[in-house]
Amino acid sequence: MEVEGIRVQLKKYHQDHLLNFWEELTDLEKKELTDDIFNVDLAETNSYFERANASLKNNNKLLDDEMKPIDSDRCGVLNECSEEQLRGYEDRGLREIAEGRAAVVLMAGGQGTRLGVTYPKGMYDVGLPSRKTLFQLQAERIRRLESMAEETCGKRGVITWYILTSEATDKTTNEFLNRHNYFGLEKENVKTFKQCMIPCYDFDGKILLDDKHKISRAPDGNGGLYRALHQSGVLDDMRNRGIRSVHAHSVDNILIKVADPYFVGYCLDKGADCGVLVVEKTEPTEAVGVVCQVDGLYRVVEYSEIPKATSELRRPDGRLLFNAGNVCNHYFTVDFLVRISECHEKDLDLHLAKKKIPFVDERGERQVPATPNGIKVEKFVFDVFKYSSNFAAWEVPRESHFSPLKNSDSAGQDCPATAKRDVLALHKKWLLNAGVKSVLGEVEVSPLRSYMGENLNDLSGVIQGPRVVE
Ligand code: UD1
Repeated sequence: MEVEGIRVQLKKYHQDHLLNFWEELTDLEKKELTDDIFNVDLAETNSYFERANASLKNNNKLLDDEMKPIDSDRCGVLNECSEEQLRGYEDRGLREIAEGRAAVVLMAGGQGTRLGVTYPKGMYDVGLPSRKTLFQLQAERIRRLESMAEETCGKRGVITWYILTSEATDKTTNEFLNRHNYFGLEKENVKTFKQCMIPCYDFDGKILLDDKHKISRAPDGNGGLYRALHQSGVLDDMRNRGIRSVHAHSVDNILIKVADPYFVGYCLDKGADCGVLVVEKTEPTEAVGVVCQVDGLYRVVEYSEIPKATSELRRPDGRLLFNAGNVCNHYFTVDFLVRISECHEKDLDLHLAKKKIPFVDERGERQVPATPNGIKVEKFVFDVFKYSSNFAAWEVPRESHFSPLKNSDSAGQDCPATAKRDVLALHKKWLLNAGVKSVLGEVEVSPLRSYMGENLNDLSGVIQGPRVVE
């Protein structure tokens, strides 16, 4: 198509400013820009902006008076379960693994802006004695769990590791995993797949230019998972492998219990098609979304969306009324994921965030703004809860399950130092429970040795760090 044809198309959607610098471009740049424009579905892009704006207004209206906590009969609490119940859940979870019916979806397409690194967060090493990265810790937990399932069920099943990447993280992630031989997992059982990128807008819905010949784009949020699962063929792969249960989680929680057999077993026991793992939110200001009901439907109200007064409401016992802290840790059946991608993906809510987005101004100069100048539209992974026909929540203690890596150390929380501290504190507790007399200094337990504190009973006496218990 000639440039005038493209201009007419763009004009129809009020985006013809994208050609403002056409005359200055080289032939190669012209080609890059036209390819870039052809890759945008202009009708969908404009509707994204309008829908995101509309849902923003709607949210504010709904949230004030319509929120209700999770019904207690839908929420299992790990600490309140009997040993027998827990053993039952664990057995079910391990059997799912031994039968090859469990998979992990790791959401690792985010840009890690708050942490301030230029590489994927999974490659981050928080400074544990082993210097293992988040990716390595997760891969080794999968290996250990496969062995535990084999020991319990007498059959070895594979946990397929699907990793959601984006334009920002895909190449580096693949190179890293390859360079490290997939940390001992079989290459054919580790699959990366890419989410889509959505154009960024100014406050009037005009698409921003990142360069004179390049549209500014950002990943479509972790809810981009559902489109990507379908488009990349991962859902077909899951069905071909006979997978039934999917544990989907964020990349940044250093304590993540990958393919958590209690959580998976609990969801199977309840016959849930969609489940969420939560920790108790104790501070109204903490940056976690809360799982609740709005108008009778389950959903997460994000920390950026909850009205302050609502976030501060308390129960008679003093705990927060909305205390089911979402930690980006989910269970789905494959059937549910198929239903979402076939019937509901196009209707997922759109969330709008005001951000500082580098852009080319009308004079053709690239600006890096100091204050928010534009909008990113994102889909959120939990916005499918409302389509669940049997929703379940599973509450776990924070200190053994959740320590996210979000910020650099200067923030003092959810940072490398706190992630390292929390791993070492948990491992110390495991060792003391197993009969070790005392643990001095930094002692870490390899995930290949122990997944959740088991298999340490041969240790005793004093363990002096720095050391990795292999
Ligand atoms: C997320 C949760 C929030 C929860 C918090 C706990 C969502 C939308 N929000 O918030 O409710 O309380 O974690 O730590 O889930 N990602 C992608 N592609 C993207 C964007 C993100 O794969 O386009 C991945 C990230 O790599 C990360 C995960 O999704 O693994 C969470 O994303 P992040 O932006 O860190 O979410 P939070 O705002 O921390």
